[in-house]
Amino acid sequence: MNETILKFEDVYYAYEGDEGETLPNAVDGVSFEINKGEFVAILGHNGSGKSTVAKLTNAMLVPQKGKIFVKEYDTSVEDNELKIRTTVGIVMQNPDNQIVATIVEEDVAFGPENLGVPQKELRTRVDNALKLVGMYEYKDYEPHKLSGGQKQRIAIAGVIAMQTECIVFDEPTAMLDPKGRKEVLAAIHDLRQKGYTIVLITHFMEEAVDADKIIVMNDGKIILTGTPKEVFTQSDLLYECDLAVPQVTLLSKAIKNNGINMPDDILTTDEFINAFTANIKQKRKL
Ligand SMILES: Nc1ncnc2c1ncn2[C@@H]1O[C@H](COP(=O)(O)OP(=O)(O)OP(=O)(O)O)[C@@H](O)[C@H]1O
Ligand SMILES: [Mg+2]
Repeated sequence: MNETILKFEDVYYAYEGDEGETLPNAVDGVSFEINKGEFVAILGHNGSGKSTVAKLTNAMLVPQKGKIFVKEYDTSVEDNELKIRTTVGIVMQNPDNQIVATIVEEDVAFGPENLGVPQKELRTRVDNALKLVGMYEYKDYEPHKLSGGQKQRIAIAGVIAMQTECIVFDEPTAMLDPKGRKEVLAAIHDLRQKGYTIVLITHFMEEAVDADKIIVMNDGKIILTGTPKEVFTQSDLLYECDLAVPQVTLLSKAIKNNGINMPDDILTTDEFINAFTANIKQKRKL
């Protein structure tokens, strides 16, 4: 049976304004379940509530209404904090905001050290985490001398060293150059292969095309959920929410509108090339 690792049950969260007033709900009746080993992408335009959802996943924020469970642990119960933080970890957008130490390995050790993990085990955890993200040879470096992509991989190692099972990435590539973006995505995909549960919040549609499931948010609510093919074929609805579909999907649609037979659910360049060349070969035969 599938083990549920994260469950939101009709969750509401509203921030407080500067004058102490309650602002409109940032998260407005959200329910979803994520199973162990799943790769789930969360999409939504600016201000749709994605980061608030991220912070709710590991009790950085707790719901004002509704319930959130990490495994069987209710995030509103203070005594569950340790269990929650060692199950779900968050990697944020800005690599610089996540560095806490002046040497890479100390930075990665910071979380588990605070949990009182013994030195010998700490050494093993830090080394393994750094190897997993391909940053072992940088263990003695000063983090501020690293590139954005390398810093993000250090942040990921810090979460892995906590022995978390689920990692929530809140737009981890948004501030990176193409090379850094590629490195971080490769690290995320490695973690997926290793069985980690991954929640990837992203603005880049292409990063979501091979997710097991996509959740689309708008104005604090989930407006669409399904497989990438189910979601990206709803291009009109996505457009209404200021979201694009992948370029290659748009291209196929435009070609189809010009009278060429193309499937509606093309999401990757490989799918596009296969469908398009099959079409041309078919035409040559006629
Ligand atoms: N600390 C805060 N105080 C007050 N309002 C906030 C705070 N953080 C977020 N909000 C508001 O809550 C709503 C949801 O914000 P959130 O950051 O969760 O959205 P988001 O989908 O992550 O946006 P983005 O794509 O810009 O990162 C927005 O209206 C935002 O202005
Ligand atoms: Mg955000």
